[in-house]
Amino acid sequence: MRASSLLLLALLASCSSSEPASSGDGFVDTDLPKAADKNADPRVLEVSLEAKVAPHGFVTGVTTNAAWTYDGMIPGPLLDAKVGDRMIVHFKNSLPEPTTIHWHGIRLPAAMDGTMMMQKPIAPGATFDYDFTFKDAGLFWYHPHMQSDVQVHSGLYGAIRVRGTAEPEVEREEILVLDDLTLAKDGSIEQYLDDESKMMGRGGDTLLVNGLANRTFKWRPGSRVRLRLVNAANGRFFNLALAGHTFHVIGSDAGLIPQPYDADHVLIAPGERWDVIVVPQGTGKLTLMTDPYDRGHDSGKMPPAPVASIELTGDPMTPKPLPTSFPAFDALPDRPTDQTLVFNEKAVPDGFIFTINDKTYPDVPPIDIPKGEMRAFEIKNDAEMDHPFHLHGFFFDVVAANGTPVSPVRRKDTVIVPKKSSIKLVARFDEPGSWMYHCHILEHAENGMAGEIHVK
Ligand code: C2O
Ligand code: CU
Repeated sequence: MRASSLLLLALLASCSSSEPASSGDGFVDTDLPKAADKNADPRVLEVSLEAKVAPHGFVTGVTTNAAWTYDGMIPGPLLDAKVGDRMIVHFKNSLPEPTTIHWHGIRLPAAMDGTMMMQKPIAPGATFDYDFTFKDAGLFWYHPHMQSDVQVHSGLYGAIRVRGTAEPEVEREEILVLDDLTLAKDGSIEQYLDDESKMMGRGGDTLLVNGLANRTFKWRPGSRVRLRLVNAANGRFFNLALAGHTFHVIGSDAGLIPQPYDADHVLIAPGERWDVIVVPQGTGKLTLMTDPYDRGHDSGKMPPAPVASIELTGDPMTPKPLPTSFPAFDALPDRPTDQTLVFNEKAVPDGFIFTINDKTYPDVPPIDIPKGEMRAFEIKNDAEMDHPFHLHGFFFDVVAANGTPVSPVRRKDTVIVPKKSSIKLVARFDEPGSWMYHCHILEHAENGMAGEIHVK
């Protein structure tokens, strides 16, 4: 290669918009494939994205031709941007069914939110352009908002990373998109709906990290490894642990948290994100496990299960300091409850329904809120199982649990409301349009547990 083309390559590499802010010497980024940016403007990420049926191997050596993918990949390509960037997605639906894309956790104009209230289904063969600007840094994700119980379970999901101006310095960053399924003999996803999957959400004993079972990561002992986690499963809660190690929790749905803390488990419900730093120690292999967690209906009896392996390679490093604080946010003031939403479940002849104030969507009365106003919601879970509550379009502050103030306040877009308990949250509804809230166990959302907020 001639010197001039080498120089050109070096220049191209140095102005790539996806260059991580935390790149220290020897920084290693996630190997999730990124969507190619077609726009020369470094502040615009412009990509093409196609939903299509394609081959995929969920386990090494067994490939199905019937996976539902974005751009032929599970997860779909990483959309990698910086806060303040504009994203334009030229989307084409090549699936045999209509679909839409919802940008989970992103504050955007309602017309771009991908719900049936705000856009028409994108028919097979049709296209749609999504276009919005990232207001917040964090890890977000994208998935369909039509027949989401089937479409998401079939493989339609991907991660969105929006880097902020002050990301923590680490030696390595991984994005882990978690999922579970039951594989049929031919390597395709079992979609059979028994009573358990109607109640708990479709899933199974094949645990996936970035679309693959039994994945191995290679980490250097003593290095700071940032794990950005998103749970794309329909129903499974992952309760992650790494024996002999603690997780330094630095962020969640709304980005970095002001006061990082240490935890030996990270519990992550469908839709949620958690951001942790782990410093792997030792030699040989470690196993990232999911430990039992009782989310109701005897689910606590499931045995621990391996999620991924870690091979420790390279010379041990002397551990460098972990971040102890990030900028504070102005927590929304607590206020008397404006609206109580009671979540429950009920057996019906052909399965179960999941209710909000005894009604099922679309019969749950919409909530009207004048633009710019704050509201406090109490989510009261009377059911025998946990429900992860998700609100579109806005973050909310979790101010109380079972009537006791939560300190520090957590800013989220998806929060676990444990069985037989309540969560109080406050949000400011400053973006007009119609927005959904729902349980993120997708079988629950599709069978009643959803509602609308109309901001005018
Ligand atoms: Cu990720 Cu309406 O959901
Ligand atoms: Cu639910």
